Amino acid sequence: MEPNQPSTPAQEAWTVQRILLWTTGFLKQKGIESPRLEAELLLAHARKCARIRLYTEFESIVSDDERAVMREMVQRRAKREPLAYIVGSKEFYGRNFDVGKGVLIPRPETETLVDICLDSIPKDSPSHIIEVGFGSGCIAITLAKQRDQCHVTATDVSSDAMRFALQNVAKHAVESQVRLLQGDCLAPVQSLAAVDPDLLFDGLVSNPPYVRDDEMATLQPEVGQHEPHTALQAGSDGLDIVRRLVRHAAELLKPAAFVALELDPEQCAVVAELLECSGFSDAHIHKDLSGLNRIVTAVRAA
Ligand SMILES: C[S@@+](CC[C@H](N)C(=O)[O-])C[C@H]1O[C@@H](n2cnc3c(N)ncnc32)[C@H](O)[C@@H]1O
Repeated sequence: MEPNQPSTPAQEAWTVQRILLWTTGFLKQKGIESPRLEAELLLAHARKCARIRLYTEFESIVSDDERAVMREMVQRRAKREPLAYIVGSKEFYGRNFDVGKGVLIPRPETETLVDICLDSIPKDSPSHIIEVGFGSGCIAITLAKQRDQCHVTATDVSSDAMRFALQNVAKHAVESQVRLLQGDCLAPVQSLAAVDPDLLFDGLVSNPPYVRDDEMATLQPEVGQHEPHTALQAGSDGLDIVRRLVRHAAELLKPAAFVALELDPEQCAVVAELLECSGFSDAHIHKDLSGLNRIVTAVRAA
């Protein structure tokens, strides 16, 4: 990459503006959707400054060290590695979460899932929620930050997810509210309930893996080639995990407790029916910010 070559006085200097122009063109050639925005985010990361600051520093010379960091990051991005993995974090609900290889990058749709859960979680009294598939911990941690009397018991099979989620729980200082358990689906919570039969929860939330096997090959390279398949793929109709979850969810919930699941738009109606046949009532389908069916909620029948 050109910007790593030293500039001599006879050559044009590598200013912020020149690097941005060069990187934008390069990323565009590589098929990146928002090349200018990503060039700015990468350069801001290399210079350890806020993106907005670049606009006041267009004429500043980018140091050799910063150019070396930039060069490495741009090469990774050109191979379609997600930007969030390269910079090591992703914003979710106004907070930064550490992410990297092995953990799903939080998505904007999931902020809608959090909003829907918050509508059912009281502000002034204690509540206990289950999350299945915590990933980076973005849902459990956000619920805990937004409701200081809310406790979340969250499970995930992945040890990479456990590593990142533990880091994020510490970063956001919610150790006393979020309990992370490694294991399959609801099994770790069922084990707790086996020794404490009074253990019942006020709600269950999950953004489970829900991609159909045959869809995996059609995912964007950033997703299909870089994000963990355990976080995405869920059988021939994408409902392998959801079905297991719904089968045992009611046993762990109090009457009138809520369940909220993020899904593919095509799956929402089927899952609403499945819930109605599995001890839940009042199933509703909610849209995401793009207007697509995305979330199904229901309440545990009394
Ligand atoms: C779509 S990701 C959601 C991650 C995070 N909650 C979020 O919204 O960004 C699904 C998560 O479920 C986890 N997972 C997959 N199969 C599982 C299983 N059988 N039991 C528990 N967790 C599972 C994956 O490791 C992944 O972290």
